Amino acid sequence: MAKLKAIVTRRWPEEVERKLGEIFDVQINKDDKPLSVAELQEALRSADVVMPTVSDRITAEVLSAEPMRCKILGNFGVGFNHIDIQAARARGVAVTNTPAVLTDCTADIAMTLMLTAARRAGEGERHVRTKAWTGWRPTHMMGTKVTGKTLGLLGLGRIGKAMAKRAHHGFDMPVLFHDPYPPSAEEQKALGATRCESIEEVLAKSDFVSLHCPATPETRHLMNAERFKQMKRSAILINTARGDVVDEKALIQALRDGTIAAAGLDVYEFEPKVSEELLTLENVVLLPHLGSASRETRVAMGMRVIDNVTAFFAGKAPGDRVA
Ligand code: DGY
Repeated sequence: MAKLKAIVTRRWPEEVERKLGEIFDVQINKDDKPLSVAELQEALRSADVVMPTVSDRITAEVLSAEPMRCKILGNFGVGFNHIDIQAARARGVAVTNTPAVLTDCTADIAMTLMLTAARRAGEGERHVRTKAWTGWRPTHMMGTKVTGKTLGLLGLGRIGKAMAKRAHHGFDMPVLFHDPYPPSAEEQKALGATRCESIEEVLAKSDFVSLHCPATPETRHLMNAERFKQMKRSAILINTARGDVVDEKALIQALRDGTIAAAGLDVYEFEPKVSEELLTLENVVLLPHLGSASRETRVAMGMRVIDNVTAFFAGKAPGDRVA
């Protein structure tokens, strides 16, 4: 039987590309540059399955491609806000994602940002590299202690829970959270997490606020000028969720005028563009969307896409179908 045609929009780890080649008649974007609208449409016209990532915007326009050969978008990533789900449904194209396999690594990056921002480790590194360091002194580059401080989580899904586990059990941090779909009381207890009725309550009481909600129309600019004012002036914001959950312009203002103390960001509102002003601020730590970027996790994500897509074509329900 002829192999199904698969188009992969970016490079994947070698072992997963090899596996793709065994199963599919696969076309990989060797240049590893984001495909244009026309190229994405051509992919939908010419392949049975397209495997996109967060860097591909699969809009209604892209999905208007005719004739549509693609039956399934096997997304490499847990977030799927870059795919117009309604339009995919309307075109009869299934969509899957890759939850669970990236939970730990994304929580690790959120912890990295929290520690780096609190202890001014980014500044410190720059200080050493630029040869500005003149030696130890009692008042040099004093940051904020993390252990025992209160962590506020907006979103207590898989990654939020993994963050709570690390912070509570590793750093003795009381955890507050707001989530419209809270986990069971038993799970909350195990994580040392206390539910707050409102986002405002979490913001007012937390020393660190970490975002773990999905990007939806409802969560766009969840953190805006008003909400920054509700945080403690000593507080630090961490975002490993999605860029547009934060109004980046309002964040820059809040970091500039001391409304909040600092921030740690892995994602950006206009990604991959990073606002120029952020690059000039010392009190923000900036990472290039590294949440899931460990070799083990990226391989697991690729294998999960393969499992979803092969199940789909075998007439079974893919484990991670979102549309
Ligand atoms: C995800 O899995 O959503 C990550 O942000 C990368 O795609």
